Amino acid sequence: LTGIITLDPGYKNSGSCTSKITFLDGELGILRYRGYSIEDLAEKADFLEVSFLLIFGELPTAEQLEQFEVDIRKYTLVNEEMKSIIDGFPRTAHPMGVLAALTSALTAFNPKSVNVDNDKEMYQAVCKTMGKFLVIATWTYRKSMGYPLNYYDNTKGYVENFMNLMFKLPTEPYKASPIVIDALDKLFILHADHEQNCSTSTVRMVGSSHAGLFASISAGVSALWGPLHGGANQAVLEMLEEIHKNGGDTDAYMAKAKDKEDPFRLMGFGHRVYKSFDPRAQIIKKAANEVLETLGVDDPILAIAKKLEAAALEDEYFKSRNLYPNVDFYSGIIYRALGIPTDMFTVMFAIGRLPGWIAQWKEMRENKEPIGRPRQIYTGAALRDFNKPE
Ligand code: SDX
Repeated sequence: LTGIITLDPGYKNSGSCTSKITFLDGELGILRYRGYSIEDLAEKADFLEVSFLLIFGELPTAEQLEQFEVDIRKYTLVNEEMKSIIDGFPRTAHPMGVLAALTSALTAFNPKSVNVDNDKEMYQAVCKTMGKFLVIATWTYRKSMGYPLNYYDNTKGYVENFMNLMFKLPTEPYKASPIVIDALDKLFILHADHEQNCSTSTVRMVGSSHAGLFASISAGVSALWGPLHGGANQAVLEMLEEIHKNGGDTDAYMAKAKDKEDPFRLMGFGHRVYKSFDPRAQIIKKAANEVLETLGVDDPILAIAKKLEAAALEDEYFKSRNLYPNVDFYSGIIYRALGIPTDMFTVMFAIGRLPGWIAQWKEMRENKEPIGRPRQIYTGAALRDFNKPE
């Protein structure tokens, strides 16, 4: 299974593309980043290592990884004027809307477009994006809570800084537990890239007009927000909480999901590509058990999720349509156990997906791909004479 396919010359207008970054097999439930299995990477690598692999094509040496972390730290200061932009939002604004706006605003403070053919410039743009995006992503939470904004702590690692930026109070130092850091590292790795999904295709499409990296990533954030895509992880938790509130009656929700008259879908189930298990969902389900047990969290929502999954896997409607749990089904249960609020779940997805967006944007530009311009099948009116309606 090499994943190499031949494309007819017309593919350039079809919205398809060639890529060396991620390989998916939806029938066999296979996911690989640059040829490495997601199971190996989730178990043996850390998030910055996987980010380097996705973006530059090879796993970093220990020295390269250390330098990558040092170079990211150089760009974690966000222009203070950005604070007046975030001040303009109501506290009730959804963090994903604020994140999309702040990401686009970064262009205002970093106007020079990156020359992708200049390795030094491209590397600097990668480090700048990785550094600033993490900070502004956590600022959306701090804003929603009315808390003072935190700064990146150069004495801590990248993933530990996420928790530090989110939860550090001005009055005391913050220390995240290794269990939490390990769980987050794994979750970010599992979300890091996924071939030509909706938000990644958006980043490539916007970047194909030679719009800048921040502008392209901002468009990807907006696409990810939708409940059919990355917004599903928030919708899953809201669905499970509602089932719990209604006494844990999963049958009623299964019936709603199968009712063609009802727009309700079982959130966290089904996938455009996977017609068997989403390998990420299986790893996250195992991690959810481990993290909740280690943290001593007894969350009834986990039991409801497992009951719903078991019911769906037995149900003819779901089986006949190859509907299995996807990456969003269990991830929110871990985020909740780590104290992350539900409306930040999709921001978590964006932080994980960032290196994939960067890698795909970089590849598309290095391949000198033409501007994205999918065609259509026209089904409208044939030529008509111009007669004004009576
Ligand atoms: C992500 O593309 C990616 O790689 C995305 C992603 C990534 O890493 O970037 O993996 C992340 O977005 C995961 C998906 C998260 N979304 C959800 O969990 C929302 C709930 N699931 C869906 O709405 C749905 O399954 C989609 C959007 C994921 C896929 O939608 P499709 O392509 O329209 O589904 P399909 O063509 O496979 O559907 C086939 C049938 C249809 O019924 P029939 O017309 O055959 O009668 O299955 C039904 C659908 O109505 N169906 C569902 C269902 N998902 C599909 N019925 C009930 N509940 C569901 N969840």
